[in-house]
Amino acid sequence: KQNDDQLIIDAGQKQFGATTCGSCGMLYSADSPEDNFQHTQFHQRFLDTIKFVGWKKERIITEFWDGKIILVLPEDPKYATKKAEDVRRIADTELGFQQVSLSSPSAARTYLFINSDRMVVGCLVAEPIRQAFRVLVQPEKTKDMTKEDFMERHRAWCCSTVPEKAICGISRIWVFSLMRRKGIATRMLDTVRNSFMYGSHLTKEEIAFSDPTPDGKLFATKYCGT
Ligand code: ACO
Ligand code: ZN
Repeated sequence: KQNDDQLIIDAGQKQFGATTCGSCGMLYSADSPEDNFQHTQFHQRFLDTIKFVGWKKERIITEFWDGKIILVLPEDPKYATKKAEDVRRIADTELGFQQVSLSSPSAARTYLFINSDRMVVGCLVAEPIRQAFRVLVQPEKTKDMTKEDFMERHRAWCCSTVPEKAICGISRIWVFSLMRRKGIATRMLDTVRNSFMYGSHLTKEEIAFSDPTPDGKLFATKYCGT
C-alpha cells in the first residue's frame, strides 16, 4: 500500500519538476535550462547578501540560543547600513515592492535577526508613526475568485477609515523562506516593542503593519491575537 502511495507522489513531482534549493530556498524547475540558469544567478548573490561576518560594533538588542537581534540606525557606519539596505532589497523583491526608498529614511530602524550560522535570516523595518487604520477581518476567498482579484480586494478594502493612535509602524517584515515558522518574526516584533521607545514597552495596539501581504496578515492576526 505504502509503495503505491509513494509512486503516485513521485510521478506527480516528476511531471511538475519543481525543486526547492536547500540553501537559498528558491523554487525552480530543475528540468528547465532557463530556470537552472536563473537559480545559478540568484543562489550565490542571495547567500552573499545574507552572509553576516560580524562587526566591530554591533548593537545587540536580544540574544537567543539560536541567534541574536541587532539594530541598525541610519547614522551607523556604511558597512552596517549597506548590509541593512541589501537585505531590505531582498525582502522588497519578495514582497513585490517597487519603490526601494523608505517613507522616512532618517528615522527608520532596521532590526536584523542573525542566526548561529552567521546569516541574516530576518529583517524588520520600523518607523515612527502617529496614526494607523485598523485592518478589518476579511471574508474568505471564494472559489471563483482569482488570486489577483483576491489580492486587489485585500489591499483596497482591508482597512477601517477611522484613524487610531499608533506609535510604531512596521513597514517591512521578512524571514528567510527556509527559516519560517520558528518564531523569528514573533521574536523580532517583541524586540521592537521593547526597544523602539526608550524606557517603555509598546502594546500590540501601538504597533501597526503597513499594507500587509496575505502571509503578513496571517502572521499579524496571530501575533496581535485578533
Ligand atoms: N500561514 C499561516 N499562519 C502563519 C503564517 C503563514 N504563512 N506565518 C505565520 N503564521 C502564524 C502562525 O500561527 C505562527 O505560529 P505557529 O508557527 O506556531 O503556527 C505565528 O504566526 C508566528 O509565526 P512566526 O514563526 O513568528 O513567523 P515567521 O518567522 O515564519 O515569519 C512572515 C512570518 C514574516 C510573514 C514570513 O512568512 C515572511 O517573511 N513572509 C514573506 C514576506 C511577507 O509576506 N512579509 C509580511 C509583509 S507585511 C509587511 O511587511 C508590513
Ligand atoms: Zn540555491
